[in-house]
Amino acid sequence: MNIRAALKEGLARLREAHTPSFTLAAELLLLHVIGRDRAWLYAHPEDELFPEDAARYRQLLARRAAGEPTQHLTGKQEFWGLEFEVTPDVLIPRPETEHLIEIALDRLAVRELRAGRQQKTQGEGLRIADVGTGSGCIAIALAHELPAATIFATDTSPAALAVARRNAQHHNVSDRIHFIECNLLDALPVGARHAVPRTAVGAVPLQPSGASHESPLLDLIVSNPPYIGQREAASLPREVRDHEPASALFGGEEGYELCAALVTEAAARLAPGGLLVLELGHDSLPAVRPLFDTPAWTSVAVTNDLAGIPRVIAAEHQ
Ligand SMILES: C[S@@+](CC[C@H](N)C(=O)[O-])C[C@H]1O[C@@H](n2cnc3c(N)ncnc32)[C@H](O)[C@@H]1O
Repeated sequence: MNIRAALKEGLARLREAHTPSFTLAAELLLLHVIGRDRAWLYAHPEDELFPEDAARYRQLLARRAAGEPTQHLTGKQEFWGLEFEVTPDVLIPRPETEHLIEIALDRLAVRELRAGRQQKTQGEGLRIADVGTGSGCIAIALAHELPAATIFATDTSPAALAVARRNAQHHNVSDRIHFIECNLLDALPVGARHAVPRTAVGAVPLQPSGASHESPLLDLIVSNPPYIGQREAASLPREVRDHEPASALFGGEEGYELCAALVTEAAARLAPGGLLVLELGHDSLPAVRPLFDTPAWTSVAVTNDLAGIPRVIAAEHQ
């Protein structure tokens, strides 16, 4: 079987199975099997596949047709222009989450301007936390953009943290991200006057040497928390419901419960002027927006994604 015939067979197989984005999925699986890029694929339609590659391609097509996400079959997903290892232990990074990175960087840039600094910040002295890091995609993207920042990345899942650590190593940012197994922000210090911060699992340095801040408080907290309601489980696509970790999906019966706890915890851990930037579920805004109606928060802004859905809420701690 040659490349053209393999692709044609793959498209037909996945179309018949009503696989979402079946053209892309058939291509990605074929590229994965032959270890080539898309340009090569379309330049060599007559090349013959090795019989073992053809057999492997058919196996992967069958698994994709049965609902396994393409990214679980290829083991990778691109996010913020970087390639991330993904396994069934982590949420597959979504393109919408890139808005969260954009907003976080924009709001930090505004802070710099307000402080009279014109240059693009490298993150000198900044202490950032990514809550529910999963694959580590947010923490690692921020580490790339802010090479001088110190980042804490928390998750309750040791299996997810193992994937995140490998991704950080792959992108050469391990030395700047402290991965912590804990609930939300539990392991990070509360309030400037806390003399004895609770230590993290794994004895993470809460005040890394070199950080310019005297306060152990945070300058930025970002999170794409689990925000789907348990009651919505039955309506999720099978790729999501049956293959992505429930702990990464469900934020409570309604969905926003974990987010509510996080907003409270964030207020206790941000320095004055510190920023909280959260990803929202497609219908979370009415429940989440009122959480910021307290004197703890100012400059609350909501940003829509490309589909017009309110996707990111950002606020400043005062
Ligand atoms: C929606 S996923 C986000 C993963 C990644 N940040 C991303 O954007 O692709 C949520 C993550 O939060 C973690 N998580 C769930 N409950 C948590 C909690 N109480 N504290 C910390 N992390 C939690 C899950 O294990 C999962 O990795």
